[in-house]
Amino acid sequence: MSLSGSFLVFFVTFFFLPLLSSAGSYDSGSGLESFARGMLDSAKDHEFFEWMRGIRRRIHQNPETGFQEFKTSQLVRNELDSLGVKYKWPVAKTGVVAWIGSGSKPVFGLRADMDALPLQELVEWEWKSKVDGKMHACGHDTHVAMLLGAAKLLQSSKHLIKGTVKLVFQPGEEGYGGGIGSRPGTVLAASSTVVTLQQIVSREMDPLEAGVVTVGYIEGGHAQNVIPQSAKFGGTFRSLSNDGLLFIKRRIKEISEAQASVYRCKAEVNFEEKEPSLHPVMKNDEGIYEHGKKVAEAMIGKNNFHDFPVTMGGEDFSFFTQKTKAAIFVVGIKNETIGAGKPLHSPYFFVDEEALPVGAALHAAMAVSYLDKLGHGHNHEVKTEL
Ligand SMILES: *[C@@H]1O[C@H](CO)[C@@H](O)[C@H](O)[C@H]1NC(C)=O
Repeated sequence: MSLSGSFLVFFVTFFFLPLLSSAGSYDSGSGLESFARGMLDSAKDHEFFEWMRGIRRRIHQNPETGFQEFKTSQLVRNELDSLGVKYKWPVAKTGVVAWIGSGSKPVFGLRADMDALPLQELVEWEWKSKVDGKMHACGHDTHVAMLLGAAKLLQSSKHLIKGTVKLVFQPGEEGYGGGIGSRPGTVLAASSTVVTLQQIVSREMDPLEAGVVTVGYIEGGHAQNVIPQSAKFGGTFRSLSNDGLLFIKRRIKEISEAQASVYRCKAEVNFEEKEPSLHPVMKNDEGIYEHGKKVAEAMIGKNNFHDFPVTMGGEDFSFFTQKTKAAIFVVGIKNETIGAGKPLHSPYFFVDEEALPVGAALHAAMAVSYLDKLGHGHNHEVKTEL
């Protein structure tokens, strides 16, 4: 798939913020507001909601990890078929790219990731994962459901689309953030390296610049009284700048190799060459962000839109931002009464499904109104009605 200059990508994800409610005050008479609220009302319609929640639950029960999303991809295609939406498949093995509208430029892109995590779900509920050791703990099941929700909304208002909306169902978001390994070596060399790596952030980096180096696993040996021939460990590293990221990467390699030689071992450091090894820093395009904010505020009220704190989470959507103008938005799913609000990647991760219509409607409304704005030069008012 080529991402040309006019291809704008936008994505809504869940995070553990309070669930946005649609209460709030609106300036009456604005076209954008009635349009955006109309989209949300459609997505909240009982039948629509049940359909979208059903999709989410089926995917949640049948999680598939990166590039293995065969059933999920099939489900996406079945739903697109019944909506009468055209698509291209396979894209990057299991990926699906659908489009609604004229088929020509300008193009507005919406993206959902489809893969689950290698994690055992510990939430006991009716729709618990049926696959041992796999779970949708990062909300990608909801991303797919919301993007299909957006497809349904867009399909029923396709006469309003001034250009094309592309819907990207993307495989393999998780687990390619860069791993480090060391072998062969002894446990001592490995443990000493793990300790020393901690000093990259604490002693080498500007204390005002954020950085993370985490070793997530160590493997080596099988018996209490045998020193293993080799040991292996892996982890992830983060920074808020590309320079910071490259600096940490270089130091991980240097420190691992030098520490190994202290113990007369040899270290081999791999940064997952097969897959994208470094996720660039995720930076929202200002124009797309402002547009998204305006639509979201019109839909759910100013009080329910918050600027999101900077986090050290990694996100491969940043690859899109290097090709085109793009922005990422986050939909709150926290609801303590039902235990929703555990961190992403937790085996207890749980979502308030009432947030699904918000995500679907935001996707659709942002796409339609942005293309409409392009069609009207710089007129910020959207004149369309649902
Ligand atoms: C949380 O969930 C309960 C039960 O579904 C619901 O009644 C309540 O409205 C939800 N709270 C919010 C803030 O949406």
